[in-house]
Amino acid sequence: MNNMFKTFKTEEFRRAGRFYRQEIKNNYRNFLVAIITALMWSGLVVVQPYLIKRIIDDSIIPNRPALMVTFLSFLLLAGYIKALSIGVRRYFGMQVSYNVEADIRNNIFGHMQKLDFSFHDRVPTGELMARGTGDASQVRMAFAIAPLATANIVLLFVLSATLLNISLLLGGLILFSIPLILSMASKFAAKAISISTKVQESQAAMTTEVEELLGGIRVVKAFGKEDSASDKVDKATDGIFNTSMELLKLRSTFVPLFELIPMAVSMLVLLVGGYITINGLISLGDFVAFTQYIILLVWPLRITAWFLSEIPRSVAASNRILDLLEEKPNIIESNKSENLPSKGKGEITYEGVKFRYGQDTVFEDITFTIQPGKTVAIVGATGSGKSTLAYLLPRLYEPSSGSIKIDGVDIRNIELEELRKNISIAFEESFLFSNTAEENITIGSDVLDEESIKRASSIAQADDFISELPEGYETKVGERGYGLSGGQRQRVALARAIIRKPRILILDDAMSAVDASTEEEIRQQLKTVMDASTTLIITNRVPTIEMCDEIIFIEDGRVKAQGSHENLKRDVKSYRNLLLETEKV
Ligand SMILES: Nc1ncnc2c1ncn2[C@@H]1O[C@H](COP(=O)(O)OP(=O)(O)OP(=O)(O)O)[C@@H](O)[C@H]1O
Ligand SMILES: [Mg+2]
Repeated sequence: MNNMFKTFKTEEFRRAGRFYRQEIKNNYRNFLVAIITALMWSGLVVVQPYLIKRIIDDSIIPNRPALMVTFLSFLLLAGYIKALSIGVRRYFGMQVSYNVEADIRNNIFGHMQKLDFSFHDRVPTGELMARGTGDASQVRMAFAIAPLATANIVLLFVLSATLLNISLLLGGLILFSIPLILSMASKFAAKAISISTKVQESQAAMTTEVEELLGGIRVVKAFGKEDSASDKVDKATDGIFNTSMELLKLRSTFVPLFELIPMAVSMLVLLVGGYITINGLISLGDFVAFTQYIILLVWPLRITAWFLSEIPRSVAASNRILDLLEEKPNIIESNKSENLPSKGKGEITYEGVKFRYGQDTVFEDITFTIQPGKTVAIVGATGSGKSTLAYLLPRLYEPSSGSIKIDGVDIRNIELEELRKNISIAFEESFLFSNTAEENITIGSDVLDEESIKRASSIAQADDFISELPEGYETKVGERGYGLSGGQRQRVALARAIIRKPRILILDDAMSAVDASTEEEIRQQLKTVMDASTTLIITNRVPTIEMCDEIIFIEDGRVKAQGSHENLKRDVKSYRNLLLETEKV
């Protein structure tokens, strides 16, 4: 008994409890229907043996067949309503549980949208997937069982009262054994809570490994690393196997016990009950009803034990979900919500910006201003922080100090949605979703008309090859679609970035896989449409740099120099050397 209360007194349990109460509140109508019909069911369960007792004592023994018909029709009615209540409870109870599951998933994925990149650096995708799928279903289970369990616990009490009412001695004997069974169940629950946490942890580890393996399957195969990769997966699989076996062993010892105990109790009843009936202490009808009640007792006991074993798993799962949901976004949404000036063309100012990933300082002091409408190359050695510089602008990461302004407005005072709407980034690694080419281009923009899509694509030099795909713009591309080359993918991603007509366009090595003449073409086209916006091009390619109005050269966490390519080449030795190196490559 102590054990059971310990399980229910942990902070984890209380935390999950608050979460469950909130979910019940959100679904209280359906939940109420489920509980009421479940309670109705437990009432009717108790009525049935009572009617049988009345049939025996009032109709069979005194030989009054007419009464039998009355009782039988009541019995029939009770049976019918009972069946109906099961259906209704199931429907509404399950509906609540599916609502809860969907709610949790929406919350998780909604919350993840708010978290910045540093969160994703820390938490592997596999773990997020495990929470969004496995843990969410685990919590759902608790809600699916809750009405049933409530009804069965109530039934347990009603049956106990009825048993005691029929015979204090026999009822007492039976009820005495119940705490015994419950304490066993709680011992089981306490152990199960820790093991099932381990199982879920190793499942998450497995998902991470498999994701990594499958994500990098080409590299793995090309480098003949299949063995070491599958070793890792094997290890993760072993982890799941071992912890699952531990849980299985626990279940295998306890479940048969739960099965056996009620059996032994029934034998006891027949013995003692038969004796007191023969001696006239209770009526025959009472005895028959009593044995029926004992059989009925088995069911709620099992359900309760099951419920007790599910609760810890569900508590563990909801705690993991809550950990995730309570993860505070580093990026605090501003409460000022200033708007960007509608006339602004994208002036960018970084002032004294410091930034570090964890402990690794990337920027000591970044200070520069980019005039609106300019096209600026960000140049720097690999690892100097060029990409990081770009990530700071849409607040994918947050500087530790300093300020960044767009058209004179501090980006911390702009609503995130508004801020990000005004900035487009095309990455070197162009991720395509398993959607049509068109959907991949229009993702995240409100522009949907065909003409704009075609225009953006032709600027990105993507229109020609997309039109030649089997189904043109309707062709599925991405992971599960038509295979595009690296340069083609980059051009689709570029079209995605420019269709939004952003105030600031950032190309982070976004044309690295595109050949020089196509890149030149793209740059010419871009000039005509991006006139109204500022463009940052992260690159170390000289021909690209030469097309830019200005260069910002990053070195040792600072802006080493800013100016025209010609001037930098003349004045800055490390700049010259870097470009020479790049040329050679
Ligand atoms: N998510 C991250 N977590 C921790 N450190 C990171 C992370 N991303 C980058 N870094 C580190 O920060 C530094 C700057 O990285 P960044 O990607 O901005 O450089 P880069 O100039 O864009 O390099 P490249 O030319 O190779 O793209 C590097 O030392 C890198 O190792
Ligand atoms: Mg980079």
